[in-house]
Amino acid sequence: MEVRNIVILTGAGLSAESGLATFRGPGGLWEGHRVEDVCTPEALARDPETVHRFYDARRAALATVEPNAAHRALARLDAEWPGGLLIVTQNVDDLHERAGAKRILHMHGALLSALCAACGDRQAWSGPMGHRPGCGACEAADSLRPDIVFFGEMPYEMERIEAALAEADLFVSIGTSGAVYPAAGFVQTARHYGAETLELNLEPSAGSYFFAESRLGRATEIVPEWVEEMLGQQGA
Ligand code: APR
Repeated sequence: MEVRNIVILTGAGLSAESGLATFRGPGGLWEGHRVEDVCTPEALARDPETVHRFYDARRAALATVEPNAAHRALARLDAEWPGGLLIVTQNVDDLHERAGAKRILHMHGALLSALCAACGDRQAWSGPMGHRPGCGACEAADSLRPDIVFFGEMPYEMERIEAALAEADLFVSIGTSGAVYPAAGFVQTARHYGAETLELNLEPSAGSYFFAESRLGRATEIVPEWVEEMLGQQGA
């Protein structure tokens, strides 16, 4: 099949080799914290200090890590691929951007952004938020929260994602366990619309069954290899 439009879903496994913890598996963030304590609207209402401390630490960690070869390969594909391309990332780090990728959508929000719980304004934010700053847009006091989609909240830009999946000729999932919906269902949507499907992951994910092809390995090895293949075909 002629591939014109590509949708790429990325997860925490893409940033693992940059030194950012994944969520599940050994040393995962959900090994050390309960989702209910740090990643739900109820947790924010009940114990904002704990939630802010969790995200302040993750935001601060960004300054200590760098994009890896997989981020750089995806940025190169983004720059050189003449057809449609959209990187839908579940990650809240900025490593795709720092590697130079442009066509990115953060469906679970971003650490370097603050959301006003009062007026919905989103603004760039790189420092701590634990001191409970007010909103620069609506002046509400103590209304800024991490711009992270918590469990139980709707991911961002689902219409745009679904439109991209409907047009995709190829759907590639990289570094995600396939444990969380709606992202875990994108492969089925892509197949429904006739797209080819490829999984690049360290180990089989919960959704491996739905992929026409699965390649196992570390992202810094198998993602650059795949990008070389795609651009080589393009050149052919
Ligand atoms: N290279 C490739 N894949 C890797 C690597 C690596 N170096 N290291 C780990 N992986 C894979 C793991 O095998 C696992 O399948 O990355 C996946 C990470 O899975 P999770 O920790 O569950 O992360 P993710 O799939 O992104 O989580 C999805 O869950 O908690 C929510 O909102 C949070 O966006 C997150 C969502």
